[in-house]
Amino acid sequence: MDSTTTTPRRRRRPHGRLRRRLAGALALGIGLLAVGGLYTAFAPQPQVAKAQGDTALIAKGQQLYNNTCISCHGVNLQGVQDRGPSLIGVGEAAAYFQVSSGRMPLARQEAQAVRKPPAPGFDPHTPEGQANLDALGAFIEANGGGPQRPAATGAALRGPDPARGGELFRLNCASCHNFTGRGGALSSGKFAPNLDAASEDQIYTAMLTGPQNMPKFADRQLTPAEKEDIIAYIKSVSGSNNSVGGYAAGGIGPTSEGVIAFVVGLGALVGFAMWLGAKS
Ligand code: HEC
Ligand code: HEC
Repeated sequence: MDSTTTTPRRRRRPHGRLRRRLAGALALGIGLLAVGGLYTAFAPQPQVAKAQGDTALIAKGQQLYNNTCISCHGVNLQGVQDRGPSLIGVGEAAAYFQVSSGRMPLARQEAQAVRKPPAPGFDPHTPEGQANLDALGAFIEANGGGPQRPAATGAALRGPDPARGGELFRLNCASCHNFTGRGGALSSGKFAPNLDAASEDQIYTAMLTGPQNMPKFADRQLTPAEKEDIIAYIKSVSGSNNSVGGYAAGGIGPTSEGVIAFVVGLGALVGFAMWLGAKS
């Protein structure tokens, strides 16, 4: 800048003004860049903010908890005998899974909390519901920690390799949920639900928290990338035939798979018998 002030052009006012304007614009640009840089450097990352505890969010969550959950889970989340278990250390992931899937607040005592439309104010498809779920989760998380929700959400939780997801699903989930996530009965009136209705976020948090009879799949058992491939697989097979069952068999009804297995299997048996007969 110094050298430019000694150039002859300085005498010409319009140029000087232009240069001053340019310098002003440049300073403004640099200032904006600096502010942006400082902001990204110092703005708390979402996870960090949660860990440190946003007091306003937690206070809002506590209010929601006092209004809807306290009667069964207790003043200090310690649980209430014969009403509800302790929520200390279950984590925001469990709160999100249970409340966004409508299982909580429980309407009445039953063998198993079932999926239903989310309670008013807790629908994850509305901004209000999202904000309330975040607040409730922050309050639960502030009491004993526990599994947290992943940073990504929605379709971004679908991994790139549904084929690997399918293998992992068969190994870890199919024994209860059936090979294509159709669900199935468990002992004593309990059941593993059909997975069609579950969102990506709910599938992820279900794996992390293991609701009821389902085992927990911590990141040591299934890495986040493996969980995301499983989600991609579930989403690739779910809803493909309007949920009437009989996956990929034309959707003609819940018995289609059995009928096809019966016909094909019987055909194979008859063929085998004929082959044996021909040999002897
Ligand atoms: C009418 C009683 C009742 C109300 C109200 C209720 N819960 Fe529950 N909650 C239960 C019972 C019973 C279980 C155990 C259900 C099961 O295992 O299927 C449970 C389980 C849970 C779990 C799972 C705990 C775990 O170990 O994974 C969470 C999280 C939870 N509730 C959160 C909430 C929240 C948040 C609210 C308020 C929005 C709420 N509940 C309202 C009775 C209730
Ligand atoms: C031992 C049996 C069992 C295994 C293994 C199992 N689950 Fe589950 N799962 C359940 C049960 C039981 C429930 C219902 C829990 C409830 O209603 O509180 C459930 C619920 C779910 C839900 C919630 C569905 C909804 O509609 O809200 C999802 C998603 C899910 N499981 C995914 C999985 C995935 C993915 C795996 C494998 C990584 C898996 N489960 C392994 C038994 C199992």
